[in-house]
Amino acid sequence: MRKPLVAGNWKMNKTVEQATLLVADMLPGLEAVKTVDRVLCPPFTSLMVVSGMLAGTEVGLGSQNLHWEDSGAYTGEISPLMVKEFCKYVIIGHSERRAYFGETDETVNLKVKAAFANDLLPIICVGETLEEFEAGKTEDVVAGQVKRGFDGIDSDTAQKLIVAYEPIWAIGTGKASSPEQANDIIKNVVRKNLASLFGVGTAEKIRILYGGSVKSNNANEFFSQSDIDGGLIGGASLKPEDFTKIVEAAA
Ligand code: PGA
Repeated sequence: MRKPLVAGNWKMNKTVEQATLLVADMLPGLEAVKTVDRVLCPPFTSLMVVSGMLAGTEVGLGSQNLHWEDSGAYTGEISPLMVKEFCKYVIIGHSERRAYFGETDETVNLKVKAAFANDLLPIICVGETLEEFEAGKTEDVVAGQVKRGFDGIDSDTAQKLIVAYEPIWAIGTGKASSPEQANDIIKNVVRKNLASLFGVGTAEKIRILYGGSVKSNNANEFFSQSDIDGGLIGGASLKPEDFTKIVEAAA
């Protein structure tokens, strides 16, 4: 009943020329899989050209960040008004933004509200570090990120949230969490906390993705879990054949 979603987070990769080639390569394969919401998140500089290439297809476009103000003296930032010229989705609070660029649950919350105010669908990332995982703090950390990140959102709007659970120790390391372990956190921590914020009915409608070293050879196991509704894919989203296979696995 929750439509699967697979988003490719290109991170800081691909020039405009390379982006054009990559999209041309993967678009036919992606277009064929209609039962999955497919999203590409290239760097800002490629949003305009990629949005042109995706026009008339059902493949969606997302940015990797946004600022919460519409405009102003925020050098180097990008406003929701600029993002929504091209995009339907926006990734918010990725662990790399939290770790290297000082994002907090409070700024994540401001960004989620700004996204909704501008009719963008936010893909919000939560997840624990290796240290927190080893200290048995996963539940506390993830519950806190959910509660603070989504504070003040009404339950009607909350249905449109897309949450990505990404254990930080599994991102880009080739060390994926086990599918059962990921499903357990998604079901018993993420969805449970969403239920206490917004009610069970709403929490059941919210799509929760898994991210962290999802590849074409393990995607099936993740997507067959009860509470995993798709994936946020980094490295493998830059490889047309792999990314298409992952999308097919979600179908
Ligand atoms: P990965 O990245 O698939 O390369 O591990 C996932 C992410 O950072 O969203």
